Amino acid sequence: MLVWAIASQKGGVGKTTTVASLAGWLQKERLRVLVIDTDPHSSLTSYLGYEDEGLDHNLYDLYSTRELNRETVLNCITHTRFPGIDLIASSMTLATIDRQLSGRVGVGRILSRALDLISDHYDVVLIDCPPVLGALMVNALVASTEILVPTQTEFLALKGLEGMVKTFRIMHNADPETEINFYIVPTMFDKRTKASISSLEYLKSHYHSNLWDGVVPIDTLFREASQRGLPIPLMDEKCRGAVAYRELLLSLLNRELEICPDRVSPATAAILTVDDESADNQTGEQSVDPVAESMGAMLGGAGPKENV
Ligand SMILES: Nc1ncnc2c1ncn2[C@@H]1O[C@H](COP(=O)(O)OP(=O)(O)OP(=O)(O)O)[C@@H](O)[C@H]1O
Ligand SMILES: [Mg+2]
Repeated sequence: MLVWAIASQKGGVGKTTTVASLAGWLQKERLRVLVIDTDPHSSLTSYLGYEDEGLDHNLYDLYSTRELNRETVLNCITHTRFPGIDLIASSMTLATIDRQLSGRVGVGRILSRALDLISDHYDVVLIDCPPVLGALMVNALVASTEILVPTQTEFLALKGLEGMVKTFRIMHNADPETEINFYIVPTMFDKRTKASISSLEYLKSHYHSNLWDGVVPIDTLFREASQRGLPIPLMDEKCRGAVAYRELLLSLLNRELEICPDRVSPATAAILTVDDESADNQTGEQSVDPVAESMGAMLGGAGPKENV
């Protein structure tokens, strides 16, 4: 079972959108997906059609249970109206968790222990984090095989990224056995703006080995998808936002196969095989570096050339 936490200390950078969009693609591939909303604002929970406090069980129960076992974990799960996507919902009471857990040893590993108990139930778990560093975020980071850091391509968001990377370093120093793999996902990229282009350049030069080589472009359909309560691939799989998240998914799966192949279920790995075959059958459509493309447009040239 793969566990991906989607985290950033900066608000509004596309965390919840990333969870919903990846979940949509995984659902289309008929994989078993669990999404966990750890943000007390419950954006993901309401995206999927549930009101705060409207469900009998939620993530708060998991943190407050006296006995963590398979049954208590499974009890917190809600089957959504999208077959294959299950949810551990958030609730406003989660905002008190930091206070309740403070001072207790090992509280950062509760979610990790809970997911270990149900590791045969799902192919992929996606954890939406609040934009605040606290017990909820630490639990998500510790539980994950990969941390996605959505980073809006503008300078203020880059500051948020620095904060996250510092957090990863602190966590690793606190416990060198805690493995931290992170992958930066540039979001809301607008190829017409200098701010987007120069922040992407900055990411490439400073975080090359942890940077996804694609971008999620600005796409107004994301807002429409969230208003309609639909993950974007289930609303319009061909729009550029949905296509970008599909590319991100494939890239993540390739990365996981390298880092922790034992955690990739055969059904999950099969996505890559099918995709390779369909790529072989296509007539050489090349993906274009968005920075090179927009530089070409700004300079009035014919755009980037291949194999220069
Ligand atoms: N690529 C995109 N293009 C256009 N709009 C986007 C894009 N990604 C996200 N949005 C919109 O931006 C807003 C913020 O996105 P989202 O809620 O996913 O961010 P977040 O990081 O989860 O925020 P928070 O920190 O408040 O939880 C939403 O209205 C969403 O629809
Ligand atoms: Mg959010």
